[in-house]
Amino acid sequence: MTRVAPAGPLHGRLRPPPDKSISHRAAIVAAMGESVTPLHGYLEAADTHSTLTAIRALGAHVEATRGPAAASAGLSLSIEGIGLRGPGHRAPKLAIDVGNAGTLLRLLPGWLAGQGVGAWTLDGDESIRRRPVDRVAEPLRRMGAAIECRQGRLPPLRVEGAKLRGITYELPVPSAQVKSCVLLAALLAEGASEVVEPAPTRDHSERMLAAAGASIRASDGRIRIEPVERLEPERIEIPGDFSSAAFALVAALLVPGSEIRIEGVGLNPTRIALVSIAERMGGRIEVVAGEPAGPEPRGEILVRSSELQATEVEPDEVAVAIDELPLVALLACFADGESVVRGAGELRHKESDRLAAIVDGLRRLGAQIEPLSDGFAIRGAGGLRGGTLDARGDHRLAMLGAVAGLASRDGVEVAELDVAGISYPGFERDLRSLLG
Ligand code: S3P
Repeated sequence: MTRVAPAGPLHGRLRPPPDKSISHRAAIVAAMGESVTPLHGYLEAADTHSTLTAIRALGAHVEATRGPAAASAGLSLSIEGIGLRGPGHRAPKLAIDVGNAGTLLRLLPGWLAGQGVGAWTLDGDESIRRRPVDRVAEPLRRMGAAIECRQGRLPPLRVEGAKLRGITYELPVPSAQVKSCVLLAALLAEGASEVVEPAPTRDHSERMLAAAGASIRASDGRIRIEPVERLEPERIEIPGDFSSAAFALVAALLVPGSEIRIEGVGLNPTRIALVSIAERMGGRIEVVAGEPAGPEPRGEILVRSSELQATEVEPDEVAVAIDELPLVALLACFADGESVVRGAGELRHKESDRLAAIVDGLRRLGAQIEPLSDGFAIRGAGGLRGGTLDARGDHRLAMLGAVAGLASRDGVEVAELDVAGISYPGFERDLRSLLG
């Protein structure tokens, strides 16, 4: 149990750790290449470590040269790929262990399904075994893949390499992981494929595949991709993770007198909807574009503590703020009026049932929060009392508890704060440094 006492204001600069979503994709796309791809700023955390282990098991050669001392700089890696059709030539005998990494669990089957030969089993920890994989099995089967999963919907997942055909796939739920899985499979299919999104989701895969030479075009929520002979990724640079930076951003908005500058952070518009939600609530935030990281925009965010008003988050905004919705809930506890988040049923399928965890967790800290079938409603009560928050093994809930503690009246005891390391090693140290 870690007690986070009310503290602040927050001051100074923060360089968040490298982006987790982009790191997973960078390792997979580099492994799909045929030569050596240098990666700069690879996230050194449990989840992204699982991806390196997985691509090694498939035959990629990964060499790490630790970057400068700060964790925010990430790892410098060189990855010698095995080629798009490489995995079929050497299926590992053991299961590929994805650990706690949902993105790896959903993306990798896309690549493996299109191998003409070979079979692989993907499995992970106790929490991953509760996360649905039928959402990727279904489109892959339509493409001609042979996939089996436990009880028809859960890991372990067995993928047998097959000859795939291109499809048009309308995503039943807005999910960047499912979209990315289909896009990777489409690279190996016969004929073009199209993925249709019900609402925008993060587009890191599209940007990275285009930079590696794939023929991919997006317009009006339709992403069209052609099969390719080979991918040729060049040097990949990974920006800071907005989702990690979001914890300090929200702490600075909530703790009176705070002013922080977040540097080197990814500013991909499909990731930073929290900024417009918080601005709508009255948050004083300035976004300054800087040098991009390859195809990904990057820059600085300046945040000052602010008086907040309630807001409504509509289903269309949900997917592009999906990992920040626990923080939106926290902001709402401090805002004037009733805030409502709808269309967020997908939160039930994260590292925990985040919908239940947000409602139970914040209520125990004193929030006036009510569950809705697909979201929650919060009546801002000018702050939070404090208490105990069980992170349920979920990294984003652990960090939510810490930020709630800083802004609360009595402090918050966070059970399992160390799980923050799944995506944000150095979280406690970074927060302390902003508290001076
Ligand atoms: C991710 C997509 C989102 C997000 C997850 C990372 C990705 O999941 O919640 O943390 O890297 O594509 P869904 O695709 O399930 O919405």
